[in-house]
Amino acid sequence: MSNIPPKLPVASSRSEIEIYRMWRIYNALQERLARGEEVINLLVGEPSFPPPSRAIAAAEAALHAGPIPYTEALGLRRLRQGIAAFYQRRYGLAIPAARIAVTIGSSSGFMLSFLAAFSAGQRVAVVEPSYPAYRGALRALDLTPYRIGTDAATGFRPTAAMIEALPADIAGVVLASPANPTGTMLSRDDLAALYAACKQRGLWLIVDELYHGVSYGAPAATVLEQGDDAIVVNGFSKYWGMTGWRIGWLVLPERLVPRVEALSGSLQISAPTLSQIAALAALDSDDEMAGRVAQYARNRQRLLDTLPGLGLDRFAPPDGAFYLYCDIRAFSDDAEAFCRKMLDETGVVAAPGADFDTEAGAHFIRFSFCVAPSVIDAALQQLAQWLPKQQRH
Ligand SMILES: Cc1ncc(COP(=O)(O)O)c(C=O)c1O
Repeated sequence: MSNIPPKLPVASSRSEIEIYRMWRIYNALQERLARGEEVINLLVGEPSFPPPSRAIAAAEAALHAGPIPYTEALGLRRLRQGIAAFYQRRYGLAIPAARIAVTIGSSSGFMLSFLAAFSAGQRVAVVEPSYPAYRGALRALDLTPYRIGTDAATGFRPTAAMIEALPADIAGVVLASPANPTGTMLSRDDLAALYAACKQRGLWLIVDELYHGVSYGAPAATVLEQGDDAIVVNGFSKYWGMTGWRIGWLVLPERLVPRVEALSGSLQISAPTLSQIAALAALDSDDEMAGRVAQYARNRQRLLDTLPGLGLDRFAPPDGAFYLYCDIRAFSDDAEAFCRKMLDETGVVAAPGADFDTEAGAHFIRFSFCVAPSVIDAALQQLAQWLPKQQRH
């Protein structure tokens, strides 16, 4: 035995990623539930509906049909073809199945596309407020997120001018339409201008279209209409409500397909086969999903009609997704403390904004309304008693 003290291996710098503040609220929610107290959950962005019935039937049949093997690294051929046909049906666009890669939720789509597009050390612009995992995934891959700030005054819309003003070393841009947490949707013209600005500067443009299908006016336009150079990330978690099935997809510029195929083979072999089979069947469920989107629309309208009367009147009405991002400056400068107090005193739980916006988030909270209308009614009933009693600045 040597007298030299053993050395402890240290964790990597790339794993130094902040844990979402939302999890702290989630833990408080769990404690409340454990005490047997009620929670009105407007925290998470998970539709509280079962998966499409066709998906369940297809998964059930596949379970009894024999072994469930891996699929090709880019996904089941018939699912890729099904997604290509879906683009034709929904958008009138001919997207070759060969440009589609099936992923493990859109989350692995981000990981694979970031790995395929960027080299370690590069800086990537991310529109904020936005889904926090973009930044976490970039950091985990030794990439540095660069904030493009947007605000309510401009409906949280990124513009071509913002792209043109980016520092010279930026390698790409990540944005979403409709966006989480704001519900902001970019028009065809917005997307055209952003696409052209990225192309002009030689930037990768990665567009998260996960909330397509959930919109409250015109349907969402896809950036794929603008040309073949953007990377689109999408999946079955939101419109189809299949979060735990973990299936997403990428539409890639042709030159990235072999890169993603190789990365996928090394990092994950394939997305879960049973879920791919279910996802293929889900693609054909617009009839069933329409009723859900109608419930989200009703929830959205209830919130828009009621919250201003309770003092929460600073928000941009969401065009899509199922979130309302509210400025709570009139009540508090600390959104996390505000969410904790609201949970403790009313049982209503919302997400603090700091997860979504690294600079201005402390002034915002996000209500998720992908719940049954009765849950929104119960939340508003509680807030109608509580908000007027809160001290106003
Ligand atoms: C904007 C956005 N993108 C991506 C994701 C990740 O979803 P999934 O990996 O289930 O597709 C989420 C989840 O909430 C999200 O809100």
